[in-house]
Formats: sequence, structure tokens, C-alpha cells
Amino acid sequence: MNVIKNSTKQRKNFGFEEVDFNEHKNRVRSVFESVASRYDKMNDLMSFGLHRLWKRRLVSQLNPKADMRIIDIATGTGDIAFLLKDWLKNTRNQEFHQPITMCDPSTEMLKIANNRAIDLGHLCDLNFVATSAEALPFRNHSFDAITISFGMRNITDRRSAMKEFHRIMDFGGHFLCLEFSPVVLPILKPFYDAYSLKFIPVMGKYIADDPGAYRYLAESIREFPCPEDLAAELSDAGFSNIRSQSINGGIVAIHSAWRI
Ligand SMILES: C[S@@+](CC[C@H](N)C(=O)[O-])C[C@H]1O[C@@H](n2cnc3c(N)ncnc32)[C@H](O)[C@@H]1O
Repeated sequence: MNVIKNSTKQRKNFGFEEVDFNEHKNRVRSVFESVASRYDKMNDLMSFGLHRLWKRRLVSQLNPKADMRIIDIATGTGDIAFLLKDWLKNTRNQEFHQPITMCDPSTEMLKIANNRAIDLGHLCDLNFVATSAEALPFRNHSFDAITISFGMRNITDRRSAMKEFHRIMDFGGHFLCLEFSPVVLPILKPFYDAYSLKFIPVMGKYIADDPGAYRYLAESIREFPCPEDLAAELSDAGFSNIRSQSINGGIVAIHSAWRI
């Protein structure tokens, strides 16, 4: 757990640097405002397209019903919400009757999500809300499912966010989180460390013109809790039946939890 309390301010690591909560929040915000226009392209390049498979796997773990109230937190450019819609239509031959709510504090990321929704013909089925996970503007028990993909490690105050997830979740609701994991198979570690800590910032420099943002993205993976610690945090927030599945040698994991 990388949140440190001192007598005045709560502190957290931004990548490998320890800063106070406000600074963490501002810096994360500027990372995503800065990379928004190149975010999708960089995801494909950095993960060799694997992020699409990981996201499909996340979506396939939900048991969707047409009237399910779903919120995608840290939605970014909207991949999960769009996949959910397509997946339900293609596999179940039904449409959601409820719009999917898409939240993110970055208005630049939301703008791109909005433009993609127009291109995909989904705009009327989606609600866009510019908000951070730590203070969600929704009533108690408003949702049956919460998804969050590659967003959890960017949240400044993860404990407050998890309490919010629990508060807005209805009884019987399913929480699903896809995130990089700090624990990879030892055989992969040397290659993975070199690739993520050295090569990705270089790609960030030449493709996104922002090496610092991509250094942060790689470093923040090392600061994220291992699945057991994340499960303990979810349990503290009130969730039950918590399980993690490690994927591709531990590079990413899907965390599943329920509100009962
Ligand atoms: C790596 S992107 C993930 C986007 C998308 N979910 C995906 O899987 O491609 C992380 C997102 O988290 C958002 N974010 C950062 N801080 C947040 C917070 N405190 N609460 C909610 N979202 C946050 C960023 O604005 C960014 O869009």
C-alpha cells in the first residue's frame, strides 16, 4: 500500500516519486490530458494489440441483462463501454435498455470517447460524466455492475474510491477491474522490466511526444498493490467473494468482487 499519512497531508507515489494527494491528482490529470489524442494508438503499439483481448476477457466475465445498470469508471476513450454494447448484441442478440454511464475526470479523454460514440452510433445509449472515482455523483445502490479498466492504479485515493464503488453498487452487484499487476512470472521479468521501464518511455517520446507520461504509466505499475493486497482493500471497502485471475504471466489481472 503506497499511501502514507503524515500529520498534515496524505501522500502517495506518482510513479517512483512521493507527492501529496493534490499534486498526485493534478499530475495524473495532466498526464491524461496530454496523451488523450494519441492514447488509443499508443495502447495498440505498447501492448501489441493485447489490450483488446484483455478488455474482451473482462467484459465476457459480466453476466449482462438488458436492464442492467452499468457504470464504467475511468472510462478514458470508452473501450469497455463500446465492447459491452457490442458483446451483448453479438452474443445475446439483445440491446441494453439502460444507458451505460461512462465516468472520467479527464475532459479530453471524454471528448474522444464522445466522438467515438458518435462514429459507432452509440451516442444515445451512453451517459458521460466528468468525475473522479473518489466522489461519485450518484445515489446509493444506483448500479448493478461497475467496470474499471487500467484506471485503478491512477486513482489518488483508492480507499475512498472503493468505498464509493461499494456505496453506489446495488445488492448482488458485480465489480470487475482489469489492471496491470506488479507480480510477473520471474522468467518474464527481465524482458518486461526493460520493455516497460526503458522502451515504453522512448516510444512515448517519439509517438506521443511525452516520455514523462509513459514513464509514469510504467512506474505506476510497480507501485500498484499485488492481487492479495488489492483483495484486502476491496474487502475493507465491504466487497465479498473477491477473486483475481492472473493473465499472460501476471502482466495483467482481472479482479472480481461482489456486493452481497
Ligand atoms: C489508462 S486510462 C484507462 C482508460 C480506459 N478505461 C482503458 O482501459 O483504455 C486511465 C484513466 O483513468 C482516469 N483517471 C485518472 N484519475 C482518476 C480518478 N481519480 N478517478 C477516475 N478516473 C481517473 C484517467 O483520466 C484516464 O482516462
